[in-house]
Amino acid sequence: MSKLPAISPRVFSGMQPTGALHLGNYLGALVQWVKMQDTHECIYCVVDMHAITQARSVWGGPEELRNAIRMSTAAYMAAGVDTKKSIIFNQSQVAAHAELAWVFNCIARMGWLNRMTQFKEKAGKDRENASTGLFIYPNLMAADILTYRATHVPVGEDQKQHLELARDIAQKFNNDFHDEIVAEGFADGDFFPLCEPVITGPATRVMSLRDGSRKMSKSEPSEMSRINLTDDADAISNKVRKARTDPDALPSEPKGLEGRPEAQNLVGIYAALSGTTPEAVLKDFGGAQFGKFKPALADLAVEKIGPIGAEMNRLLGDPAEIDRILADGSARAREIAAPVIDTVKDIVGLLRT
Ligand code: AMP
Ligand code: TRP
Repeated sequence: MSKLPAISPRVFSGMQPTGALHLGNYLGALVQWVKMQDTHECIYCVVDMHAITQARSVWGGPEELRNAIRMSTAAYMAAGVDTKKSIIFNQSQVAAHAELAWVFNCIARMGWLNRMTQFKEKAGKDRENASTGLFIYPNLMAADILTYRATHVPVGEDQKQHLELARDIAQKFNNDFHDEIVAEGFADGDFFPLCEPVITGPATRVMSLRDGSRKMSKSEPSEMSRINLTDDADAISNKVRKARTDPDALPSEPKGLEGRPEAQNLVGIYAALSGTTPEAVLKDFGGAQFGKFKPALADLAVEKIGPIGAEMNRLLGDPAEIDRILADGSARAREIAAPVIDTVKDIVGLLRT
């Protein structure tokens, strides 16, 4: 019989350490991560094993990867994740993720993975040449979450499909091993929870500053398309002022933004950074030209993002301290993960001697 406690509310989320984190990562995910610390037990992961699913040219190489892991850790902390309340660690330090991912590789179906739009986007035209790791990426993501039997996952819009897959995997595991799960003492047969995506706020999908039809992303070649958390005040201000817009004045209500993706994006960013809504922003700026709105947005972005970059730089000045924080987080994560992966092995019949 398993000694695991019943499922209780727990938050898990992660980001890949490839390149600098940007405003989309901040507004789509980090802001929510910080908020949830006050109401939930939270575990935040730097998913380094996911980072190596793409070509080496994308993540750079070992030295770049180590630096990027430390940079992501610093970004989580500078944005407000508090290691006294929450766990921060890097994925590869807790072997249970890889172990559970293997079991899930045997649960998930080819057909399910074939439908994943992110694989199609990242693999591009040359699918034969994509790594097998990129194809089973969503299984590892499901393992990240379910290693802790987490119930809530704060992410941006683009991760919705992956989280649906995580629920399908949890459900199929619970079904396939129903009798064994009950025999382990989980009377209702629910070993893994069906995790809920937490996709909220006015900026769950921040768009490129150069093209309102594309997501802000680290892979976009133009630096002007995104605000990095490490940008200084001049860079932030310059990028906002040069953001693409249309020639019209701002409308006084959100429905006036329909068909104006660039305007909609900038209003959404303003609302998210100031903690209000697009309605409230347009109450203040309805009728104004971008010549007036952009400087106000630039000032707000400098005020909110500037200090995060400064704090990241301070933290990165002491890499040994960052490594110590990750080591401590990994030890805490391992403690939660150990009884879960042991019970999975017992349920499946992978003999523990
Ligand atoms: P990634 O950089 O792909 O590892 O994403 C890390 C987190 O940031 C995930 O929760 C994503 O959904 C979120 N995210 C990435 N880009 C954006 C964006 N442009 N808008 C909103 N959220 C985003
Ligand atoms: N796939 C996510 C992204 O690219 C990162 C990720 C990996 C993640 N494992 C996760 C997010 C677990 C939430 C929960 O953004």
